[in-house]
Amino acid sequence: SLVPVILCGGTGTRLWPLSRASYPKQYWPLAGTTEETLLQQTHQRLQGLPDLAPPLLICNEDHRFIVAEQMRQIGVEPAAILLEPVGRNTAPAVAVAALQATARGDDPLLLILAADHVIRRAADFRATVAAGMAAATAGQLVSFGIVPTSAETGYGYIEAARPMAATTPVPIARFVEKPDKVTAEGFLATGRFTWNSGMFLFRASTILAELERFAPEVVGACRTALEQDSADLEFLRLEREAFANGPSIAIDVAVMEKTDRGVVLPLDADWSDVGSWGALWETSEQDHEGNVLRGRVISEGSRNCYLRSEHRLVVGLGVEDLVVVETDDVVLVAHRDRAQEVKGIVGRLERDG
Ligand code: GDD
Ligand code: MG
Repeated sequence: SLVPVILCGGTGTRLWPLSRASYPKQYWPLAGTTEETLLQQTHQRLQGLPDLAPPLLICNEDHRFIVAEQMRQIGVEPAAILLEPVGRNTAPAVAVAALQATARGDDPLLLILAADHVIRRAADFRATVAAGMAAATAGQLVSFGIVPTSAETGYGYIEAARPMAATTPVPIARFVEKPDKVTAEGFLATGRFTWNSGMFLFRASTILAELERFAPEVVGACRTALEQDSADLEFLRLEREAFANGPSIAIDVAVMEKTDRGVVLPLDADWSDVGSWGALWETSEQDHEGNVLRGRVISEGSRNCYLRSEHRLVVGLGVEDLVVVETDDVVLVAHRDRAQEVKGIVGRLERDG
């Protein structure tokens, strides 16, 4: 069977003040005009994949009720909701999912998914996943590479060893996480690079073997944390000390950069990582004046703005290129081109208390 593993333990600080440690972006209805949250969309766009099994979700323990409630809202009963006492990045999350999926002697395909992506053409996405299933079943680690449209520095890059084909995965030459602008421009010029989507497809036993080989401390910590887990309602709580003692490392770095079983399939499905307010404005449906308006918002003679209100009425009058985000305790007013920098502000606020 095909088990979706939804990683939803990140914090998403570039979408502050909406995305907070207490309520990160994946739990908000940020994309398009739908009321579904990014997490719910992550699950819903899978419908129609062959052999689809209930999802495994892995999140921070503080968000357990949010995750459970959002799955209930869309009528989904997860295989498990695994709770991390602390975030240790994606490698331990994947390891725990693989251990859990094989606990009863099964060896399903795992489809690793980030919970913060927007994919406009879901059918094309499903077709690409389906195209990777044979290679994954045969023991390869399939990654999905997005054909780059600009020299983005907010994504990792995958270099294919050969020119890429639409439906046959080709071996990976290397992974490069978040390069600088000049490097990224060089990558684009070669035509061999795609953006790392952060989504993967492999057998549970394959990723476990590769994790054992390249990051045995990760598997060790996760195994112990799972052995001492405590079931609590519908949740599986990882044991704090064991899990926290393991290394904090991304699956890309722990395995994908090192393995010789990695292959890449190009994914062309109008994908984006909803990383920042600017990116969100760009990928959202804009009105005829280029505005994206969410919540109780009025715009008069304004252009190319992202205006969002959670509670109070927000009025944009004759302004341009602004991001305005109103929440309970914070109102952000930023130039659209500089909205990325809220990450630094969050850092400063955390330091200063
Ligand atoms: N369970 C769990 N635990 N999930 C996590 C953790 C963790 O400690 N850390 C991150 N995640 C989840 C996030 O919620 C998100 O769904 C996904 O893993 C990716 O994490 P991000 O923090 O959003 O990573 P990124 O966007 O900076 O970079 C990654 O994704 C890019 C594409 O979106 C990398 O894989 C890049 O190479 C890639 O281009
Ligand atoms: Mg991301």
